[in-house]
Amino acid sequence: MPNEEMVVTPWKVSGEIDYEKLIQEFGTQPITDELLEKIKKHTGELHLQLRRRIFFSHRDLDWILDMYEAGHRFVLYTGRGPSGPVHIGHLVPWIFTKHLQDVFGAKLYFQMTDDEKFLIHPEFTLERTNRIAYDNALDVIATGFDPKRTFIIMDSEQGGILYRLAVQVAKRITFSTVKAVFGFEESSNIGIIFFPAVQAVPCFIESAITGENTPCLIPAAIDQDPYWRVTRDAAPKLGYYKPAQIHCKFLPGLGKGGKMSASLPETCIFTTDPPEVVDRKIWNAFTGGRPTAREQRLHGGDPSICPIYYYYYYLFEDDDSKMKNLAEDCRNGEILCGECKLKLAERVKRFLAEHQRRREEARNRIEEYKFKEP
Ligand code: TYM
Repeated sequence: MPNEEMVVTPWKVSGEIDYEKLIQEFGTQPITDELLEKIKKHTGELHLQLRRRIFFSHRDLDWILDMYEAGHRFVLYTGRGPSGPVHIGHLVPWIFTKHLQDVFGAKLYFQMTDDEKFLIHPEFTLERTNRIAYDNALDVIATGFDPKRTFIIMDSEQGGILYRLAVQVAKRITFSTVKAVFGFEESSNIGIIFFPAVQAVPCFIESAITGENTPCLIPAAIDQDPYWRVTRDAAPKLGYYKPAQIHCKFLPGLGKGGKMSASLPETCIFTTDPPEVVDRKIWNAFTGGRPTAREQRLHGGDPSICPIYYYYYYLFEDDDSKMKNLAEDCRNGEILCGECKLKLAERVKRFLAEHQRRREEARNRIEEYKFKEP
C-alpha cells in the first residue's frame, strides 16, 4: 500500500512526516552544529530538545542571538488553539519555551486562539472555545512559566490593541496570499480568512506597547509555520522586525504512525488522564516490537517506529547514554515491550501527578497571568 501523502498544515497533520522535505518545502533552515554551539554559549548545557534535534529547524534564530549578543532583548511568543484538552504533545514546545524564558529572562506572550477554533469548527460556539481556553490556561501555568513575565492573551476577550494591530497586519496581506498558503476556498468563512492577521499580532505587541522595535522568537511545532510566512511578509511593511522561529517535530500518537492528536483519544495522553487510563493507553500502544517474546529475543525490535521509544526520547528519559542503551537493548532483543511500557507508564504517571497538582494550584492564578493592555 503506498504511503499516505504527507500533509502538514495548522489544522491537519497526516501521512509519514519527512522533516528534511519540510525544511525544503517551507523554506526554513536546519539547526546546524554551529548554531547549537552559538546557543550553548548562552544556555550552558544544551536542552534535551536541542541535543536530540527535536527542535530541528528555524528562521532567523542566528539573527536573534546576534541581536541578543549586541544587547537587544527579544520576546518569546507561543500559543494554543483551545479545541479540547491539552495532551503531552502540546507540552513539548511549551517545556522548551519555559527553558528559553528561564535562560534568556525573556517575556512570553502566549496566545489562546479561542476565535480560531470557533471559526474553524462548524459546530463550536465561542462560549465553548473560551471555556476550553480557561481550562487549557491551567496547563500553561502548570508548565511553570514566570508569572511576572508571561502574558496570556485570550483572543475573544481582547479587542483593543489586538484588533488595532490585526487590521494593520490584515491590510498588508492579500486574499490570494492566504488562499495559497492556507488553502482557503470560496466557501471559507471570512472570519478564518482574516484570522492569520490575528495570530500575527503577538509578534508585534511588545514593539507596539513599548514603542521600541523588539525581536520576537516563536517556538512551536512546524505545523504553525504557514502563519509565520505571511506574518514575515507583513512585518517590514509595518516597520517591525520579522519574527524568528524555532520549529519542533511532533510527538507521535500511541498508534501506528501519525502525530499525537486529540481526535484519536485512545492514542493520546491528556494531561488530565488519571493513572489507570495512562496504564491502559500505554499498555495498548503500538510498538516497534515483534509479535511474540520469542521472536523479539531472536530478532530484536525497531525503536525507530516505536512511540514508546519516542516518549522516552522526547520527554521521559533525560540521560543520553541510557537512551542509547535502550535503543541497543531493543534492537538486540534484550528488552521486551511489556517491560518498556510498564517503566514508561510509571514515569508518565509520576509526571502527570505533579502536573495535575500544579494545574489545580493554577485555578486561582489565571488573572495574574492574563495579558492586560497597558
Ligand atoms: P495547537 O493548539 O494546535 O497546538 C499548540 C502547540 O502544540 C504544538 N503541537 C505539538 N507539538 C509536538 N507534538 C505534537 N503532537 C503537537 N501537536 C501540536 C503546536 O505546534 C503548537 O505549538 N493556532 C495555534 C495556536 C497559536 C500558536 C501561536 C501556536 C496561536 N499563536 C503561536 C504556536 C505559536 C494552534 O491551534 O495550536
